[in-house]
Amino acid sequence: MRTTSPDLRVDLCRVRLPNPLVLASGILGTSAQLLERVARCGAGAVTTKSCGPVPRTGHPNPTVIDWGHGLINAVGLPNPGVEAEVEIIAVARELLAPLGVPLIASIFADTVAGFAAVAERISAARPDLIEINISCPNVAAELGRPFALDAVSAAQVTAAVRAATELPIIVKLSPNVTDIVAIARAVEGAGADAIAAINTLGPGMVIDVESGRPILANRVGGVSGPAIRPIAVRCVYDICTAVNVPVVGIGGVSCGRDAVEMLMAGATAVGVGSAVYRGGPEVFGRIRDELAEWMSAHGYTSLSDFRGIAHER
Ligand code: DHB
Repeated sequence: MRTTSPDLRVDLCRVRLPNPLVLASGILGTSAQLLERVARCGAGAVTTKSCGPVPRTGHPNPTVIDWGHGLINAVGLPNPGVEAEVEIIAVARELLAPLGVPLIASIFADTVAGFAAVAERISAARPDLIEINISCPNVAAELGRPFALDAVSAAQVTAAVRAATELPIIVKLSPNVTDIVAIARAVEGAGADAIAAINTLGPGMVIDVESGRPILANRVGGVSGPAIRPIAVRCVYDICTAVNVPVVGIGGVSCGRDAVEMLMAGATAVGVGSAVYRGGPEVFGRIRDELAEWMSAHGYTSLSDFRGIAHER
């Protein structure tokens, strides 16, 4: 008997993804060749490491630990600065185009005007989408309080980037707030084309009990991986009840079942980050195939057959 494989294609802000799995920012998105490798391994879209106005070296080591149930990191937004990033994106575009895998350029800045300036400059390299990272939990001492912690600030950044580029913009929210829905509504109102949720949780701390010292040189860092998945699913679920823009659900997804769960919460696409750190870029092909197998086993032919069904009563 011949069975047709399920249709995994997704439209995200009028950009076509071959499947819903997106390389999350900060994981392997540092060179055009690594982005290409992740795409060849089965990602449906790839996101660059967040880039800011000027080069940054980031925090001293250790910056990332696998603590047993996921990761904790305080990398400190190292990046080559927007001028060098434009070159990386231009090369990545050439490598990704034949694969049909879109490129998401992630940006950050320490001021509203800085976000607009980086967005305008990065747009010249023509990524398919821009992700606005207003939610890094690790750099408050240097760059100030994350804009994602406050609806007014989040909306100001979104509006400024909206005015600076014609590319679709995805605003990445923080779970470290009492009311993520209020922030989601604010950025939608300010012109966001999509929302990504969630960035890392915390900050958290892991102490080496023999030395009695925090392991991260930064002492605290953002928590990610399987331990935060239920929080990410709840955030995605709540945001999807409140806004009309698509949501990229991110947080602890490491297998096909986890991707199904995010889609059932209402996500249009699904970010994968920490699982790549543990399993390498091959996790994308595995999660994609597990998702397709799950769909076949349940008689679903497209993602829209079950997207958001957790909202039904
Ligand atoms: C970093 C940035 C993030 O957005 C995040 O969630 C965690 C870490 C960083 O570069 O330190």
